[in-house]
Amino acid sequence: MARRKKIIFFTGAGISQESGIDTFRDSGGIWEQHTIEQVATATAMYENTETVLEFFNDRRLALGNTLPNKAHELIAKLEEDFDVEVITQNVDDLHERAGSSNVTHLHGELTKVCSMKNHKISHDIGYNTIRMGELASDGEQLRPDVVLFGEDVPKLEVAQTKMWDADIIVVVGTSLSVYPAANLVGYGKNSAKYYFINPEKTGETLMYSYPHLSKAKFILKKATAGMEELYSKLVDKE
Ligand code: OAD
Repeated sequence: MARRKKIIFFTGAGISQESGIDTFRDSGGIWEQHTIEQVATATAMYENTETVLEFFNDRRLALGNTLPNKAHELIAKLEEDFDVEVITQNVDDLHERAGSSNVTHLHGELTKVCSMKNHKISHDIGYNTIRMGELASDGEQLRPDVVLFGEDVPKLEVAQTKMWDADIIVVVGTSLSVYPAANLVGYGKNSAKYYFINPEKTGETLMYSYPHLSKAKFILKKATAGMEELYSKLVDKE
């Protein structure tokens, strides 16, 4: 039997927008409601721990009342015909809840917490909150198990290796403005087929570094409509 083609979906906040989760950089987005320096840096975690915990507590509570949308669902459904991997910058769990089996979270997961000192001491907390004084098993304050600005991206190498192996790479709902994550898109094989789904055209800057991306096809639609179009194309033609 022929090898099933491998598709990687590289996703960002835009895929969850139609589920009701704000993106970061669109008008009215999270970075207009909060400043990165106050809630999303390694320094903020150290100096303003309570503020950072509250920011992530609010997002975690909201996530519990949010559902995956058709775009997440169609990505999961493609597992019937393809070897599908999801590499997401999102900290939500909507890909998993839609049924995707192979999800790599580059920027961590909202439903997990870890020790301030040792990120390997990590456990699930679902959609619950954490407070000052709640400690990990090493006696250190618990914090969200997410990647903040100024911190390492531990899943980067694993994600790179996956990208090298893909026949088709689909980039959905990301501004590609945060590195090193954005560079991963360029790591696909020259022979891979590329699709970008986003109402806005993105990726122009990356194309200077990775010229093979200039052959990408753009579906300038929201994630649900864009995924419906792509799903039919992939299932009929690939
Ligand atoms: P951004 O907010 O930077 O970009 C969201 C992208 O989604 C934009 O390109 C929008 O055009 C697009 N978009 C909006 N609505 C959409 C929809 N319904 N369907 C499809 N696309 C839509 O979010 P990310 O690129 O995910 O990192 O941001 C990357 C990282 O920056 C995040 O992981 C987070 C953030 O700071 C950390 O916090 C470390």
